[in-house]
Amino acid sequence: MKNILITGGAGFIGSHVVRLMVNKYPQYSVVNLDALTYAGNLENLKDVEYKTNYEFVKGDITDAKLVSRLFATHRFDGVIHLAAESHVDRSISNPLEFINTNILGTVNLLNAARMEWKDVMDGKRFYHISTDEVYGSLGETGLFTETTSYDPRSPYSASKASSDHLVRAYYHTYGLPVVISNCSNNYGPNQFPEKLLPLAINNILNNKPIPVYGKGENIRDWLYVEDHAVAIDTIFHNGKLGETYNIGGINEWKNIDLIHLLCKVMDKALGRAPGASEQLITFVKDRAGHDQRYAIDSSKLMNELGWKPSLQFEEGLEKTVSWYLENQNWMKRILSGEYESYYQDQYGGR
Ligand code: NAD
Ligand code: TYD
Repeated sequence: MKNILITGGAGFIGSHVVRLMVNKYPQYSVVNLDALTYAGNLENLKDVEYKTNYEFVKGDITDAKLVSRLFATHRFDGVIHLAAESHVDRSISNPLEFINTNILGTVNLLNAARMEWKDVMDGKRFYHISTDEVYGSLGETGLFTETTSYDPRSPYSASKASSDHLVRAYYHTYGLPVVISNCSNNYGPNQFPEKLLPLAINNILNNKPIPVYGKGENIRDWLYVEDHAVAIDTIFHNGKLGETYNIGGINEWKNIDLIHLLCKVMDKALGRAPGASEQLITFVKDRAGHDQRYAIDSSKLMNELGWKPSLQFEEGLEKTVSWYLENQNWMKRILSGEYESYYQDQYGGR
């Protein structure tokens, strides 16, 4: 493969994928198409922006003309599609943007790939990045497998589920060479501070309350973002067309336990007395329709393609905390403007 389109490459996971692809495959030419919404940040890609095999295009995946022009000029062989509205709480207050970007944007890309590849599908690949949230909510036991029925329950997960269905429909109807993966919660450097871990890290650092929804009993599986990027590289190159791969960290945590562990790591990193940061834990109103538990069975990916998570959670969390402490200017630049009004709406005066 030569010409790769990555969408959403200025976001959290996308920036790690762009970095990996640009550095690992100097023979590829990588185009990063990103609209630079509130979540997109070119600072995430400072270290690769001058590489000769990398190009950034500011644009919206819902812009059909732009997308088909890009396909025509760059002759993409592969697409890694990450661009999305990605935050559940924002989807609760503003579902329409999620429908627009996550569903219409994906169809737009599928149409462009279909037109461009209509004569030769051989060697082409459209890789759609999705989430475990499409499977809904688990009780105390069980794991999501690739054959678990879809049961999305938030506007975010419903929009991602729709896009997954459409990607599969293009495979069955038009023979478009697609592959899909559904991953659990990512954590690591460059994550926008609306998500639990960077939000809590920043609040602990600034001695602000750590908002824990409900009783903190919801459970998530956590994967270090660079491990997800390696899984994406593996599936992009070796995944079987038409297949779905689940990606998880084998690392389930109750939110409140996760926050306790984070407080411990932060106390140590900041030289605070043990137990100091825990005083900041504040239980707040629960999220509407809050999914109880996500847990992933990634044995298909591990057994068939040989991927596995590389980091133990405590090690990943320490690396993550160090990154945020060493990159406080990155955070400061984000914490102005749009984020301030979002935080006010979501958490009130806290
Ligand atoms: P993010 O919100 O950090 O980044 C999304 C990026 O997409 C941003 O750079 C944004 O500018 C861009 N974007 C948004 N709308 C766009 C549009 N209309 N046109 C072009 N670009 C647009 O998201 P993330 O956490 O990096 O997630 C990336 C992908 O991975 C998403 O598809 C998400 O559903 C999926 N995913 C995320 C997680 C997670 O834990 N964060 C887990 C599983 C799957
Ligand atoms: P989040 O990072 O938003 O990811 P997702 O909703 O996609 O799993 O939230 C992770 C978990 O943490 C989820 O159960 C909601 C909870 N949460 C809080 O308790 N407080 C917060 O301020 C946030 C943002 C999330």
